[in-house]
Amino acid sequence: MSLDRKLLLGLAREYGTPLYVYDGDIIVRRYRELYDFIKWPDLKIHYAMKANYNLSILKALKEAGAGIDAVSPGDVMLALKAGFSPDNIIYTANNVSDEEVRQVKALGVLLNIGSLSRLEKFAGEFPGSSLCLRFNPDVVDGEHVKLMTGGDLTKFGILLQDVEKVKEIVAKYDLRVVGLHEHTGSGLQHSSSVFKSMENLMAVATPENFPDLRFLDFGGGFKVPYKPDEKRVDYVEMGAEITKLFSEFCAGYGKGLQMYFEPGKYIVAEGGYMLVRVNTIKDNKGRLIVGCNSGFPQLIRPMFYDAYHYIENISNPDGETKIYDICGNICESGDNFAARREMPEIRENDVLSIQNAGAYCYSMGGVYNLRAMPAEVFVRNGKAELARRALSSAELIDLIVGETN
Ligand code: LLP
Repeated sequence: MSLDRKLLLGLAREYGTPLYVYDGDIIVRRYRELYDFIKWPDLKIHYAMKANYNLSILKALKEAGAGIDAVSPGDVMLALKAGFSPDNIIYTANNVSDEEVRQVKALGVLLNIGSLSRLEKFAGEFPGSSLCLRFNPDVVDGEHVKLMTGGDLTKFGILLQDVEKVKEIVAKYDLRVVGLHEHTGSGLQHSSSVFKSMENLMAVATPENFPDLRFLDFGGGFKVPYKPDEKRVDYVEMGAEITKLFSEFCAGYGKGLQMYFEPGKYIVAEGGYMLVRVNTIKDNKGRLIVGCNSGFPQLIRPMFYDAYHYIENISNPDGETKIYDICGNICESGDNFAARREMPEIRENDVLSIQNAGAYCYSMGGVYNLRAMPAEVFVRNGKAELARRALSSAELIDLIVGETN
């Protein structure tokens, strides 16, 4: 299932560390298996490219038939560059500007609008046009409080109770609502949340309220295991229930609609590795502190969400186990990849492989402390190729600070 240690060590030697490595085979397999789980004849998966916008990943998913969930003009521009056609992209940004709306609409991309005030402005400028509407599903779930998107304490979507106000604007400006959308959160902990959110959206998706619907979009959020002993969600079972609920809904609506999902994490999380090298080891009164040559600007999830990422010592997998704090090279005390982690003995110069680093790792990166984002390597059918080189310090300074001379 996972990339072999020898291959990873070889890549670390060849391209240097820190280094991101992606397993294109797993990524495409995860995308395809969603179609095995959810057996709806008209299912469409839009990959949430915010999870990882590496061009090789985008191209592989495009070739496999995916669409794109985009959240900024930059996302749209890159998706177009990767070869996605505008009608395969949905734009689900929030708190957008007039300018941004015009720019995306001019590119022929369908906008998904999630606030009454934006709807009114959009309608005034583009009467008679087609659009998708984002409702807040009123269900709270996600793998961390920062990753819960549903419920009226969040900024996302139009409240379900405001459907009459939506209808007034739609009628006044002769809009065509072709899709309805909801997204509950990332890493949904309970299958029941997926079903409840679907039901809540389907309850407003009546032919009386919205006669022109072509699709319902139930967002992303499918959970993946991060810990080695964590159980995988039974997606066959979940998919069967999703299909049943949607089929009942379509019978009531009087037409077979398209079903959309837009997962990011599910498709790419498990296909990514970040390789770091150990620079320093300290023994602080028995507490072993490992210092790596990368830090939270290059992989922020542990610091930001207290996320667990499994870490393997690929240089010494059979060493005697000890307990370590695994830290980065950034000047902040919260710059940790793992705390009190039991693993095979770590020595200076060993390469550690931080796993499940395919989703929201490189893409959430920054340049704090003026350390550039690492290179990215894409592996497909056992063949590795450099997908994005690292910036040198001089290039980084040119880009971020200005001229170096
Ligand atoms: N659709 C919408 C409208 C979203 O906001 C998101 C994620 C997705 C789809 C994809 O969700 P996914 O399938 O990837 O869970 N940085 C966080 C995750 C933030 C998710 C933001 N929105 C993390 O590292 O866990």
